[in-house]
Amino acid sequence: MSDSTVLPEAPFRTPLELREAPSGRVVDSAVDPLFVDRWSPRSFLPGPVPRELLATLFEAARWAPSSNNEQPWLYVYATDAWDRARFLEALAPGNRAWAEHAPALVFLFARRTTTDGRPYRTYAFDAGASWMSLALQARLLGLDTHPMGGFDPEKAYAATGVDPARYEAMIAIALGYRGPADALPVPLAGRERPSGRVPQATIAQEGCVAFTRAD
Ligand SMILES: Cc1cc2nc3c(=O)[nH]c(=O)nc-3n(C[C@H](O)[C@H](O)[C@H](O)COP(=O)(O)O)c2cc1C
Repeated sequence: MSDSTVLPEAPFRTPLELREAPSGRVVDSAVDPLFVDRWSPRSFLPGPVPRELLATLFEAARWAPSSNNEQPWLYVYATDAWDRARFLEALAPGNRAWAEHAPALVFLFARRTTTDGRPYRTYAFDAGASWMSLALQARLLGLDTHPMGGFDPEKAYAATGVDPARYEAMIAIALGYRGPADALPVPLAGRERPSGRVPQATIAQEGCVAFTRAD
């Protein structure tokens, strides 16, 4: 690229120039705080998530990329007491203990085969991309999400009516406005803070992979 090349302006927001994000997380490079300040709380305010905001979240999820535009994701959500009670039944007890206070619960499923019935190698990857769009859109709306792999898939199929022959239960998601840490029981209140990450240099390397990750 020559020196005279004019780079397009960043279209949306300025990256975080400081080394510390508002959440207290320390970054290795400039990055938009949207990515750094998403973290998974366990304390949620009981107030409902407005319906139009739920629609905005699923709209963000809808526009995720997928292999051959297969769009394998299926979100089933619960906001009223009856649905939430059934969804909660499927969660592992350790998750149920705090997720019962979240005003919305979601199960994300992914279709195992392509629309014309062929094996679909990247369905889990594609569903993951969609979930992340939802999670970041939630942050942009002042909402928070907490993904959970700790649930009984059979109970998730039963609670949602989704066909296990076609879809795989990927994650449950607790969703709402973040609440205060001291609303949680003591052991959980102590864990209610953003986690760290391994250094950037251990997850991205230019050229030949001639390094070994500690893990
Ligand atoms: C696929 C997946 C499964 C997870 N399962 C659980 C879970 O069952 N219970 C829980 O409290 N957190 C769960 N988490 C949350 C992770 O522990 C959390 O995302 C990770 O520690 C990074 O923290 P952060 O999301 O706050 O940045 C899960 C996250 C993912 C992506």
